Amino acid sequence: MADLTESVKLELDGDVAVVVVDNPPVNALSHHVRQGILDGMTQAAADPAVTAIVLICEGRTFIAGADITEFGGAPKPPSLQAAQDAMESCPKPVVAAVHGTALGGGLEVAMCAHYRVADARARFGLPEVKLGLLPGAGGTQRLPRVTGVPKALEMMTSGEPIGADEALECGLIDEIVTDLRGGAVAFARRVVAEGRPLLKIRDRADKVTGVDPQVFADFRASIARRTRGFLAPEYNIRCIEAAATKPFDEGLAVERQLFGELMSGTQSKAQQYYFFAEREAAKVPDLPKDTPVLAVNRVGVLGAGTMGGGIAMNFANVGIPVTLVERDEAALERGLGVIRSNYERTAARGGISSDDVVTRMGLITGSLDQGDFAEADMVVEAVFEDMELKKSVFAALDTICRPGAILASNTSALNVNEIASATSRPEAVIGTHFFSPANVMKLLEVVRGDATAPEVISTTMAVAKQIAKIPVLVGVCHGFVGNRMLAMRRIEADKMVLEGATPAQIDRVIFDFGFPMGPYAMSDLAGLDIGWKAETSSGSTIREIMCESGRRGQKNGRGYYTYDPETRAATPDPEVEQMLRDFGARQGVAQREISDQEVLERCLYPMVNEGAKILTERIAIRGSDIDVVWINGYGWPVYTGGPMFWADTVGLAEVAGKIAGYHDSLGGEHWNPSPLLARLAAEGGGLHTHRS
Ligand code: 3HC
Ligand code: NAI
Repeated sequence: MADLTESVKLELDGDVAVVVVDNPPVNALSHHVRQGILDGMTQAAADPAVTAIVLICEGRTFIAGADITEFGGAPKPPSLQAAQDAMESCPKPVVAAVHGTALGGGLEVAMCAHYRVADARARFGLPEVKLGLLPGAGGTQRLPRVTGVPKALEMMTSGEPIGADEALECGLIDEIVTDLRGGAVAFARRVVAEGRPLLKIRDRADKVTGVDPQVFADFRASIARRTRGFLAPEYNIRCIEAAATKPFDEGLAVERQLFGELMSGTQSKAQQYYFFAEREAAKVPDLPKDTPVLAVNRVGVLGAGTMGGGIAMNFANVGIPVTLVERDEAALERGLGVIRSNYERTAARGGISSDDVVTRMGLITGSLDQGDFAEADMVVEAVFEDMELKKSVFAALDTICRPGAILASNTSALNVNEIASATSRPEAVIGTHFFSPANVMKLLEVVRGDATAPEVISTTMAVAKQIAKIPVLVGVCHGFVGNRMLAMRRIEADKMVLEGATPAQIDRVIFDFGFPMGPYAMSDLAGLDIGWKAETSSGSTIREIMCESGRRGQKNGRGYYTYDPETRAATPDPEVEQMLRDFGARQGVAQREISDQEVLERCLYPMVNEGAKILTERIAIRGSDIDVVWINGYGWPVYTGGPMFWADTVGLAEVAGKIAGYHDSLGGEHWNPSPLLARLAAEGGGLHTHRS
């Protein structure tokens, strides 16, 4: 046995050399791993006692990709290609032995082995697209040569991995073994004994010749909606086109060129930043390392409305039994019915099996008695947004729930400290702000009250991960991080529609920026009459005049837009536009043409300003947490990095200057410049790297 580098060893198993990579946590291809693979291959090739070589990893996974922390720095030798060439051109058979995940550069390395074996749970993928990149180590040319063009298109533009069975079926691996190391060594000996050839994927052409160009055109059309605004999916497709039309080395040149373009662009920087931001958000700096994580084996949910039903599904989806309590039979039946039809719809689309529907429904027990929460480890309240109601509910939960149970509120804006004050155990109370639809949206704002105990925070963050959410810990303020910033956008948008912009113009600018929809389309979807009362409506706000004119949004086909009853297609409504102009005129607002640039600045800059205030008030721990909230809760385009990262790319001096200008010309508290923003702008600092 010899240490080749700090992370790679060379071992001998009889006549088979085993190159072992051990670079925790995920065996990323740091420079010493590349060096170790290169040296291992070279030494084993030169050793007459060695007949074959196995490449295997210690720890939880095979190589999970390039070391993303090395991106952007000066390249450290040797190149990945040198290590790959040493494998592919090795005169002795090289077998890659895969467990865990062979991702990105990891799969690209495995594809340079002559053969691949894996354990049954191994997964294989090229997720570079999620980092705004394409596989830059020959993966774009090798994968389609193995899997064929359609599967390569799917895998590379989605970034989603495939399992071992599928990999075996499509020829990406040669065998599934139970004992990975033993199986790989035995496989290597068989290759030698049977005199099997040294297969090089680069030499294969069968699956990439004669591909109908229409395949690419159809595929582009099929992903256009979900990849709008992103550069990387298109670049991945172009590389696969090159694989189907050019010799291997020319294809590699295309890959190298396009990889370089993506790597030097803002999108990939934003998406790489986001990768780490999401992982960072899970960390709570002031929690002691030894803070326990409590067991959550049984959950209660109070209220089976829009949110409560979705919240209950999240737990049932991962096998945690839920008691769902409503105030009357009709509401309970309705809530359970919605859950069932959601599951049935997913099953009909093939997302889950019909057995899963039965299992998951079986985990949700409806009840009208809060007393049934007595055994729950955690109760999530999702009743109406009304402080007095929430306080009375929490006072009741306090008497019902066992000591040690976590009492969580799904309030979207209310003061968690005040809710906690209704109990004798404020340390057990926490906010869990799910986003609608709660079974779909990934974000969970975890709201820490003044008294919330460390183990309640650590447990809630852990449970969030368990139910496949992305948790971000925030502090108490009206609307927390997300809704507080959203309110700023709305204030300005509503001012602009009175000054001469139309709802359609504002929505278009926001849509073109990369959001799934603009504020007015979103209002129409949510319903304009939530919280509106005809008896007290006095025509004094935009919402009141909209509701008074019978506009309820998509649900009655009339909102800021009119909706085609068949297709649901939205058309701007000239009557609404006139109504808004008249309303503005009655208030003495001067009408003018508003440029798209002004729309964008007035929608987004007050949000950036508010984000900076949120950091100053320590409502968010880090600037990057704010970006994680906006990307996952509101569809802020990840390729711009989120509001804080985006503002930094625009330039804080520019942003701060504009905010000061709008403050002077338009007024309003939300334009009061954040001193933090002004300071960072003056010092050349960044919001996305700021920690509060
Ligand atoms: N480089 C550097 N660090 C990485 C890394 C990578 N490629 N992948 C993961 N890490 C780090 C994470 O930041 C995290 O660090 P932390 O503990 O300090 O926060 C740690 O490894 C563990 O990661 P996760 O928390 O994500 O662990 P999981 O077990 O949940 O997931 C994983 C493991 C599936 C491997 C997941 O980490 C992952 O998807 N990683 C990224 C894979 C990827 O994108 N690979 C392609 C890279 S680009 C490339 O290869 C370019 C090439 O084509 C030239
Ligand atoms: P909803 O009106 O759809 O559901 C509330 C449910 O609670 C109703 O079914 C009602 O019968 C039930 N309920 C009321 N009082 C009860 C009681 N004392 N005991 C048992 N059940 C009771 O409301 P929705 O939209 O689900 O909102 C619930 C909470 O989630 C609110 O605090 C809201 O602010 C918050 N929220 C809502 C979001 C949304 O988009 N709808 C997003 C994020 C949070």
